Amino acid sequence: MKKTPEIQIDNFDIISSDTFKNGADFHVVALSKQHIQTMMIFQQLIIDSLKNDEKSFFLEKSEQYLTGHFNKGSKAVGLVIGDRLLGQALITQPTDAHPETGMTDMANLPAPNTVSVIQGVGVHPWTRGLKVGDKLINAWLDIAANDKRENALAETDQNNKYSWSLFVKNGVDIVSEGVDPDDGTKLYNHHKVLKI
Ligand SMILES: CC(C)(COP(=O)(O)OP(=O)(O)OC[C@H]1O[C@@H](n2cnc3c(N)ncnc32)[C@H](O)[C@@H]1OP(=O)(O)O)[C@@H](O)C(=O)NCCC(=O)NCCS
Repeated sequence: MKKTPEIQIDNFDIISSDTFKNGADFHVVALSKQHIQTMMIFQQLIIDSLKNDEKSFFLEKSEQYLTGHFNKGSKAVGLVIGDRLLGQALITQPTDAHPETGMTDMANLPAPNTVSVIQGVGVHPWTRGLKVGDKLINAWLDIAANDKRENALAETDQNNKYSWSLFVKNGVDIVSEGVDPDDGTKLYNHHKVLKI
């Protein structure tokens, strides 16, 4: 049987710390440019964990994309137990200079500098269903509000029930549907208005 790797991470800044119901202590951490290689390895683990008909759940990001993401001032968060990375997500915060939101097919987007978009949410296959994704989404909503972004946006594959229901549970409601023109994937667009 293929062994699923443990992915080590270091030099992270801790955003918050808490304990899972099973007693495990975890940190939500800020990921930055220095973590790109680790994020690429983690991303591959997520992609490998998906069955063929699930590949559209997670859009692969190139190293160049991640470099550009951080260079534009956007952010990323991880969930760490000890020195093991168990989840990661990108937080895109468009600016007037870089207005791209990453939303594929959402009409009537709010002004880019009011928007925070979470992308590439991935949880280690060993720890699915244990609330790692939930913690990452909550960390994103806190960061977006702190950064005075009042419109939290996300998109999910309509077939990815674990993903879209997780957003809905956290008040990031489905507001419209879209289609990815590249592969025809049917999407849900999610929006939560944050108190800032
Ligand atoms: C979608 C994903 C991010 C969810 O993260 P997670 O940490 O597993 O989710 P959580 O544990 O926080 O919550 C998921 C909910 O589904 C339930 N669930 C049950 N079995 C599950 C399983 N095998 N996988 C995920 N969720 C499961 C959880 O119990 C929870 O429901 P609850 O709130 O009623 O308890 C994760 O499954 C993943 O990485 N999937 C592959 C990549 C992907 O699809 N990314 C989405 C990009 S938008």
